[in-house]
Amino acid sequence: MPVQQQTYENLEAPPNNEWLEKPQRAKRRSKWIVIGSLIALAALIAVGVGVGVSLSKKSSNNSTSSTSSTSGTPSGTNPNDPSNFPKDSALKQSFYGIAYTPLGSQLPDCGNNLTEVIEDIQLLSQITTNIRLYGADCNQSSLVLAAIQATQVNMNVYLGNYPASDDNGTAYERQKGEIQTALQQFGAGNVLGVTVGNEFILDYVTGLGQTDPNGSAGQAAMLIPWINDTRSMLAEMGLSNITVGNADAGSYFNTEVLSSVDYGMSNVHPWFANQSINDAAGWTYEFFEENNVVAAQALANKPKMFIAETGWPTDSSEFNYSPNDGPSIASVANLQIFIDTFACQATANGTGYFFFEFSDEPWKATTYGGVEGYWGLFDSNKNLKNLTLPTC
Ligand SMILES: *[C@@H]1O[C@H](CO)[C@@H](O)[C@H](O)[C@H]1NC(C)=O
Ligand SMILES: *[C@@H]1O[C@H](CO)[C@@H](O)[C@H](O)[C@H]1NC(C)=O
Ligand SMILES: *[C@@H]1O[C@H](CO)[C@@H](O)[C@H](O)[C@H]1NC(C)=O
Ligand SMILES: *[C@@H]1O[C@H](CO)[C@@H](O)[C@H](O)[C@H]1NC(C)=O
Ligand SMILES: *[C@@H]1O[C@H](CO)[C@@H](O)[C@H](O)[C@H]1NC(C)=O
Ligand SMILES: *[C@@H]1O[C@H](CO)[C@@H](O)[C@H](O)[C@H]1NC(C)=O
Ligand SMILES: *[C@@H]1O[C@H](CO)[C@@H](O)[C@H](O)[C@H]1NC(C)=O
Ligand SMILES: *[C@@H]1O[C@H](CO)[C@@H](O)[C@H](O)[C@H]1NC(C)=O
Ligand SMILES: *[C@@H]1O[C@H](CO)[C@@H](O)[C@H](O)[C@H]1NC(C)=O
Repeated sequence: MPVQQQTYENLEAPPNNEWLEKPQRAKRRSKWIVIGSLIALAALIAVGVGVGVSLSKKSSNNSTSSTSSTSGTPSGTNPNDPSNFPKDSALKQSFYGIAYTPLGSQLPDCGNNLTEVIEDIQLLSQITTNIRLYGADCNQSSLVLAAIQATQVNMNVYLGNYPASDDNGTAYERQKGEIQTALQQFGAGNVLGVTVGNEFILDYVTGLGQTDPNGSAGQAAMLIPWINDTRSMLAEMGLSNITVGNADAGSYFNTEVLSSVDYGMSNVHPWFANQSINDAAGWTYEFFEENNVVAAQALANKPKMFIAETGWPTDSSEFNYSPNDGPSIASVANLQIFIDTFACQATANGTGYFFFEFSDEPWKATTYGGVEGYWGLFDSNKNLKNLTLPTC
């Protein structure tokens, strides 16, 4: 089914699956193509969203995610000591890892700040000990490392470098510099790895309507020197112990790229695969094992594989949940089921994963529509959604 294979909906499912033949395709495809290009993304934000993406400061919160708040500071934070913050009994260490992007970390507007990131890290530290970043623009690597040190929480980070394929390495070099600065300023004590590339092969293959990730030799030839270059940078800093990896869609790992990294991170999304919620956890695990873990084990370097993103959306501005929408219903109740069937079990059986994602990102809803803005465990005001987090 060559035509099928060109469509986005196959990208995180087995290549021969025939799922999602309608509105999701266009939305999903456009999202990822746009996201794949920092330049396009920046332009869209500049036009459509603006600085700050209107995360309203939380002054009053619901009872599920915060306790008292001091006026003018993030709720519960002692302004003189971010390590002294109240713990929320609703938050549990339920997740192996969480996918995280500080709000306002896209050029050209940026707009992130340490106060906000400290607040995020305080919340994140109550639900996981591992986070991954996608990119390094807007000083986000430094902010995250600074926030971990200020809060003194137990948190490890996979930093990210999100290069573009059409800028002669400008985005790569820029973010490499940001990462190097962050490591120099804050040390590597909380850093487990640096992920070079996010959906780089996916963007290329879908962009050209190709079907074989191995056919993307040109892109691999661009990516692998950057992977090697990051390794060299770390070695020069005396940090050869920091691993270097790559993240891509689950069906789009290029063998040459995987042969060049210490770890691979794979997006595996049961919602986009039109799985029913009751099948979602099992499908995610099996897809990852069969397509990514087995393939990695067959390579000489045997890169460690993680699930880079998995999760379940809670809302959609696009679908009305008619039977034609299939069994993938976006709702908080279904997110609860996915958490209950996946989060603790996967960790327990050795599946390293990063739950997608920390909080809703309203700018994505504005820019992309559909479900894009509604994948958070927390809403855009950083209140935990109506979820009961399991104790693992
Ligand atoms: C989703 O799955 C349902 C049930 O398996 C099926 O009826 C429907 O056609 C699928 N939807 C798409 C868009 O593939
Ligand atoms: C940090 O960012 C938030 C959200 O954009 C904003 O409301 C707040 O004023 C900023 N704080 C500082 C100190 O810049
Ligand atoms: C980046 O953030 C760190 C931590 O807050 C800060 O020390 C540094 O000055 C920032 N760098 C820039 C260029 O804003
Ligand atoms: C990349 O470099 C080539 C050769 O120097 C140049 O022609 C091209 O305009 C550059 N592209 C970008 C996006 O800078
Ligand atoms: C790597 O080495 C640095 C410098 O000695 C250290 O701070 C860091 O904890 C080490 N990281 C890992 C993952 O071993
Ligand atoms: C990519 O190449 C590897 C090694 O040659 C092979 O095992 C794998 O099946 C190829 N993948 C595709 C999609 O052709
Ligand atoms: C990348 O590094 C590996 C391991 O050192 C080496 O075998 C390979 O030739 C390098 N590739 C490129 C394109 O630099
Ligand atoms: C690991 O956990 C996942 C998620 O619940 C589950 O689907 C899978 O069957 C488990 N695997 C093993 C080997 O227990
Ligand atoms: C929260 O979820 C529970 C089910 O887990 C439901 O009974 C309750 O009505 C929900 N509350 C709100 C405010 O939606």
